[in-house]
Amino acid sequence: MDRRRPSPIPESSPRESTAQEFLQQYRSRSLLRFAAIGSVDDGKSTLIGRLLYDTNNIHTDQLETLAKDTKIDTAGEPFDFSLLTDGLKAEREQGITIDVAYRYFSTEKRSFIIADIPGHEQYTRNMATGASTANLAIILVDARLGVLTQTKRHAFIASLLGIPRLLLAVNKMDLVDYAERPFEEIREQFADFATRLGISDLRFIPISAMRGDNVVAPSARMPWFRGETVLEYLENAYIGSDRNLIDFRFPVQTILRGPDGQRSIAGRVASGRLRPGEEVMVLPSMRRTHVQSIREGGKECDVAFASQSVAISLEDHVDIARGDMLVRPNNVPHIADHLEAMLVWMTDAPSETAKPYILRIGTRETRARIQDLAYRVDVNTLSRESAVSLGLNDIGRVTLRTSEPLIFDPYKSNRGTGSFILIDESTHDTVGAGMVIDRLPPHRLREQDRGASGANLHPQDGSVTPGEKEARAGHRAVTLWFTGLSGSGKSTIARAVERRLFDAGRTVTVLDGDNLRMGLSHDLGFSRYDRSENIRRIAQVARLFNESGALALAAMICPYESDRALARTVIGEDRYIEVFVCAPIEVCESRDPKGLYRKARAGEIENFTGVSDTYETPRNASLVLDTEKSSIEECVARVILHLEEQGILSLSG
Ligand code: ADX
Repeated sequence: MDRRRPSPIPESSPRESTAQEFLQQYRSRSLLRFAAIGSVDDGKSTLIGRLLYDTNNIHTDQLETLAKDTKIDTAGEPFDFSLLTDGLKAEREQGITIDVAYRYFSTEKRSFIIADIPGHEQYTRNMATGASTANLAIILVDARLGVLTQTKRHAFIASLLGIPRLLLAVNKMDLVDYAERPFEEIREQFADFATRLGISDLRFIPISAMRGDNVVAPSARMPWFRGETVLEYLENAYIGSDRNLIDFRFPVQTILRGPDGQRSIAGRVASGRLRPGEEVMVLPSMRRTHVQSIREGGKECDVAFASQSVAISLEDHVDIARGDMLVRPNNVPHIADHLEAMLVWMTDAPSETAKPYILRIGTRETRARIQDLAYRVDVNTLSRESAVSLGLNDIGRVTLRTSEPLIFDPYKSNRGTGSFILIDESTHDTVGAGMVIDRLPPHRLREQDRGASGANLHPQDGSVTPGEKEARAGHRAVTLWFTGLSGSGKSTIARAVERRLFDAGRTVTVLDGDNLRMGLSHDLGFSRYDRSENIRRIAQVARLFNESGALALAAMICPYESDRALARTVIGEDRYIEVFVCAPIEVCESRDPKGLYRKARAGEIENFTGVSDTYETPRNASLVLDTEKSSIEECVARVILHLEEQGILSLSG
C-alpha cells in the first residue's frame, strides 16, 4: 500500500470539486492549502470533521454511517466528528505508518487542501513532508491545558518551513465555560513566544470544534470575541503573494520526442511564469535560446506558471538533460557545490559527517556529504546546542558539499527550488529534508575551495616591486576602508579626502559601494552571502590598486565584522586601515539622501541595513569619525592627520 496516498475526496457531495476544478481554482488563486497540526486529543480530527460537515462537504450516506458509529455522548451534536478522520487512526493502530493524510473540501469562495498532520512528538518529519507547501497552519491548543511544549515545537517547525500564516485555534472553549480569560492567557503567552519566530500573520480564535463555535458559524456563546471564524479566516486570507510568479524556474524532468521528431522539454514549473517567444537559459550550461511553444496536456498554451506540468519546445537544439534547469537569463538561481541548510533528520540512524548521501533537489541528484553541523536546535526552547550528529526528528544547521554543482535558491525566496531531501545510498530511504539558507559566504569558504582551479594556480612575481611603485608615488599605498550606515557620510568623506590628496599630487582613487554595485557587483543583492561576496570583490580591487602604488578609499556599508576581517586579510594587515564613519541611525535616517530609509520603513526594500538588517559596530577600527558632531572638513583633517601619523604620507613636508 502506498502510505502517502491521499485519502479520498468525500464522495459525491453537492459541493465536491473534481481534480480539474481544483486546478482551475488554483489558477484563479482560490485554492488554499493548510496544515492542521495537533494530536487527536487536541480535537484536530473534530475540527476537520466539523469544517467538512458545516460546509456541506459530507454526503448523506456517510452521515448515516457516522451517526451509527458514534459511541460517545455528543451532547446533541449529530455525530462524533472525529470519526471522519478516523481512517488515519485505524491504520495506525494496525501498525501502518501514515505520515500525512490529505483532505479536500470546498466552499463557494475557495477550495481547500488540508494536510492532516499527526502532532505527536515523533512526527516532526511529517510536518516537513506535509506542510512545506502550505499557505497557512492551524495549530490546535486545548483551552484547559494552554500552550504546551508541543505547541511551541509545531510553531517553530511551521516557521522553519516558511508557512507565512499561523492560526492558533484555542479549542474546547465549552470546557472552560466559554470564558475570555483562559483564551487571553493563551494568546499572551503564545504571542510572546511567536515574536521570536518572526511569523508575520498570527491569529487566535477561540473555538469549540465539538459544538461548532466559531468554526464555520460565529458563536453566540462568546460575545466577547469579535474576530473572524475559522472558515472566514480560511476563506479570506490573502494568499495572492504566496506564489512566486517572478523567478522563473523549470527543473527539467524528461526530454520528449514527438512523432514528427520534434523535441520538447517536460517538467513542472517550480516558480514564475513563461510565455512562447521569451528567451531562456539552460543551467548549468548557460546556453541561451527562445521558447517556441508551450503545451499542457497536448494543448498549446500561451503561458505556463508555477505548479503547471508542461512540455516546452525550444527554438534551437541546445544540449539539455534531466536535472538541468530552464531560467531567464537575467534572473538566475545559485549554482554551487556547497550550501548551508536547516536539516530535519528523518531516520533512526544518526547523521554522519563522513558518509556520502544522495542529495535530490528538484530533478537533480548528486552525492553530498555533511561537512559541518553548526548546531542542533532544541525545538522546545529554540536554543542552539552543539552536537556531533542529528538523531530522528532533530533539526540542525548544516553545511553540505556536493560532488556536482547544484542549482538552487534560498528557501526563503523560493520554497520550490530551495528544498531538498537526502537519501541513503544503500537503503534508498529518505533520511533528511532540508531548507536551503544560502551558499556559504566567502569568508567561510576554505582557501583551497575558492574557485574550481584554485589548487593549480601559482602566484607570479612582477618585475617591478610594490616598493618601487610606492617610492615613485611618494606615499605608502594603503586602503582606507570606510564603513558605516547608509547616510552616515562615508562617500562624502571619501570624496573629500580624494580631492585633498589628488590636489596634493597623490595617486588616489575612490571605490564607492553604490558605483561598484552598478558594474563589478551588478549581479549581487543584499543577502548575507551577496554582501559578503561584494566585500570580497571590493577588497580584491583595493588590493590591486595598492599593488599598483595607488591609495584606495573604499566606501561601502560593510555591515558584518566577519566581512571586515576578510577585507583585512585580502588587503593585508599593513595596508588596511579601517575607518568607522559613525552617526546614530536616527541622524542617518533624517538625512536620508537617497530616500531609501523611507522606502525601507514602508517595506519596499528588504534587508535594509539599520532597519531590517543588522550593522555590527566595528570593534577594530583605527579611526572613528563622528559625523553628527564633526563637520566634513574636520573629518578630512583627522584622516590626513592619521595618515601622516602612521608615516603613510606627508602633505606638510
Ligand atoms: S554592502 O552591505 O554590500 O557593503 P554597499 O555599500 O555595497 O553595501 O551598498 C549599499 C548601497 O546600496 C546603499 O548605499 C544603498 O544606496 C543601496 N541599497 C539598496 N538596497 C539596500 C539594502 N537592502 N541595504 C543597504 N543598502 C541598500
